[in-house]
Amino acid sequence: MTTRSKITGTGMCVPDNVVTNHDLAKLMDTSDEWIQKRTGIVERRWITEGETPSGLAETATLQALEQAGLEASDIDCILLATLSAEHEFPGTAFFLQRRLDFGEIPCVDLRAQCSGFLYALTFADALVCAGRYERVLVVGCEVHSTGLEMADRGRDVSVLFGDGAGAVVVEANRDENDPAGLLDIRLHADGQHAERLWVEVPASGVHPTRITKEMIDEGRAFPTMQGRFVFKHAVRRMPEVLLEVLSAASLKLDDIDLFLFHQANLRINEYVAKQLEIPAERLLSNIHKFGNCSAASIPLLLAEASREGRLERGQLVSMTAFGSGFTWASAVVRW
Ligand code: ACO
Repeated sequence: MTTRSKITGTGMCVPDNVVTNHDLAKLMDTSDEWIQKRTGIVERRWITEGETPSGLAETATLQALEQAGLEASDIDCILLATLSAEHEFPGTAFFLQRRLDFGEIPCVDLRAQCSGFLYALTFADALVCAGRYERVLVVGCEVHSTGLEMADRGRDVSVLFGDGAGAVVVEANRDENDPAGLLDIRLHADGQHAERLWVEVPASGVHPTRITKEMIDEGRAFPTMQGRFVFKHAVRRMPEVLLEVLSAASLKLDDIDLFLFHQANLRINEYVAKQLEIPAERLLSNIHKFGNCSAASIPLLLAEASREGRLERGQLVSMTAFGSGFTWASAVVRW
C-alpha cells in the first residue's frame, strides 16, 4: 500500500501591530512611494513587547490542529523552519514544544531561510512516507523586526521584512480512494552566494569572540543584502525549479489551480508569473499586508487561502520559494 503525506490542517498568526510604510519613513530615509513601487509592500506586522516567535507559532499550531481535528498529543514530531530563532540555542521548536501538550516528541529547527518551509515539508514527507511518523507538525516562523536596523544604513533591508508564523499538519494518507498528498518536491542550494544575503554575526566562525560592540557598531549584526544580485537569481531559479517539479510530476502549468510564491518582492513574483504566463487570479499574494515573512510566507498563504475558501480538496497547488543560502525549492500538492 502506498503512503502519501497529506496536509490536513493549516494555521497562521501575525501580530496585531500594523507598521505602515509611513511609520517607517519616520524612522529612516524612505517613503511609501519607494517601498510600494519597488516591492509591493504597503504594511507589515511587527511584534510588540511580550510577543515571541514561539508564541506566534503556538497560535498558528492550535489553528492547524483544530482544522485537522487533532490534539497536540497526536503529533509525533515538530519541524520548525526559521532564520530568526527565539534564542541562539536551543531552537524555537523547543520553546513551541513546551507551550502545548506535545509530550516528549522530537523537535528541531531547520535553517534554509525563505525556502525553509519547503525544506521542512520535504523532510516531513520523507518521515511520513518511510513510516517513521504518522503526523508531523511543520511550522514556518519568523520574528524579523527585532533584528532590523531602524536607520538609513539598513533601509534597503528593513523595509522588506515582517513577523508571522504559519503551521501545517502533515499526516500519512493510505486511503486508495483519497488522492490528496504531496506529489513531488525539489530542493536546491548554492552556498557560493551565502554572503550576498546574510547576517554576519554573532558567528562562531568569527574568532576569538563571536560578537563585540565594534561589530554591532559596524552594522554586522544586521541583515545585509545585495538586492539586485538576489533579484536576478530569484527570477531565474523560481521558474526553473517550478518547471522541474511539474515535469517530475508529469504536470503542466495549466493543470495548476493555485500558485503560491514566496513573498520576497511583488515585482519578483510578477516577473516570474509573466515569464510563465500564469494568470493573476491563480497567483496568491499577501506581501502588501505582511511583507516578507521568510519561512512563514508560504504557510501563511496556505492558511489564508484555506480560510478564504480558495483551497478545495482535489485542487493542484504549487508552492515555490527562493532565499538566502541561496536556496530554492518547489512543491506540487494534490489538495
Ligand atoms: N527607501 C528609499 N530609498 C532606498 C531604500 C529605501 N528603503 N533602499 C534603498 N534605497 C535607494 C538606494 O540607496 C539606491 O539609491 P542610489 O540610486 O542613490 O544609490 C536606490 O534606492 C536604488 O537601490 P537598489 O538597491 O538598486 O534598488 P532596487 O530597485 O534593486 O530594489 C530591492 C531593492 C527591493 C531590495 C530589490 O533589489 C529586491 O527585491 N531584491 C531581492 C530581494 C529578495 O528576493 N530577497 C530574497 C528573499 S529574502 C531571504 O531569503 C531572507
